[in-house]
Amino acid sequence: MNSRPHVAVVGATGAVGIEMIKTLEKRNFPVGKLTLLASARSVGKKLKFRGEEITVQELTKTSFGGIEIALFSAGGSISKEYAPAAVQAGCVVVDNSSAFRMDDSVPLVVPEINAADVKWHKGIIANPNCTTAITLMALYPLHQAFFCKRIFASSYQAVSGTGAKAILELERQVNQIVKGQPVTREVYPHQIAFNVLPHVDSFLPSGYTKEEMKMENEGRKIMHHPSFRASVTCVRVPVYRAHSVAVSAEFEKPVTVEAAREVLRKAPGLQVVDEPARNQYPLPLYQAEQYDCAVGRLRKDCAMDNGLCFWVSGDQLLKGAALNAVQIAEELLK
Ligand code: A2P
Repeated sequence: MNSRPHVAVVGATGAVGIEMIKTLEKRNFPVGKLTLLASARSVGKKLKFRGEEITVQELTKTSFGGIEIALFSAGGSISKEYAPAAVQAGCVVVDNSSAFRMDDSVPLVVPEINAADVKWHKGIIANPNCTTAITLMALYPLHQAFFCKRIFASSYQAVSGTGAKAILELERQVNQIVKGQPVTREVYPHQIAFNVLPHVDSFLPSGYTKEEMKMENEGRKIMHHPSFRASVTCVRVPVYRAHSVAVSAEFEKPVTVEAAREVLRKAPGLQVVDEPARNQYPLPLYQAEQYDCAVGRLRKDCAMDNGLCFWVSGDQLLKGAALNAVQIAEELLK
């Protein structure tokens, strides 16, 4: 790989795409050239990178000539349709969608956990589900120390995880309510303003949603832990940015709060914010735009042996998407 690669962002105008461009700039990724791709609707739009305006081009199967790394975040169907063309053109694809995550020939990577898996890619590397990535940032170090058998978890997921349209929907509904106007909805099946929806992604015959099962399936693959079990309820909340997850984890080895805190303090990409007496615990409002995730509310789980409860919060557009993708690209250059 060229040390100053030609990089493309596919879905450059989306909530994650914009963050990918910002993250490449902020982390000084050695971009030789940047190509921005989106739908025909965005052609001609200009986005700033390192003080320069770059014109968005239409994504086509012939977009990838000369491009070495393509960061995809335009949804699963676009990834399925265009990632093979990018690979064919010699490009390494870092894909933020769920299209290839569970494909045995595709590594699924959180660099703090399984960076070495990047090495066996065959053209596509998958970026994990945002809620899974944020949860594992705290769970994996604990698993390494105490061996995690299973978790029970509930998520509190921000609207920006659904994309730019959902941010506008929350804003519009809040305005409508404040002005006493009828509430209109386009993105979610119910009003999201001043409400919570126990519904993220589509339902499976089991009654869980696809999003809920990603924690177990992707967690097993990322942690190399095939017997890991996770029972999760995913909830959309009227928060603009940063997901939070309440986790009860059961471990094989005995665990104390002090030992867990010691482990978490040393974990990369994670801050321990845990002083309840001073009202200090992770909050999505303060995790927005932060690279690190934050963990707190550590306590012994009173309903199981060797159990620990914690609350982890992180910017799902960054660690759950754009930052993780750029970190994978950084691994490719090593
Ligand atoms: P566009 O802005 O031109 O529609 P979000 O997740 O915030 O909704 O963003 C989705 C991203 O995926 C946007 O950049 C969007 O571009 C892009 N996208 C959606 N459909 C297509 C398509 N058919 N071809 C290329 N890019 C697409």
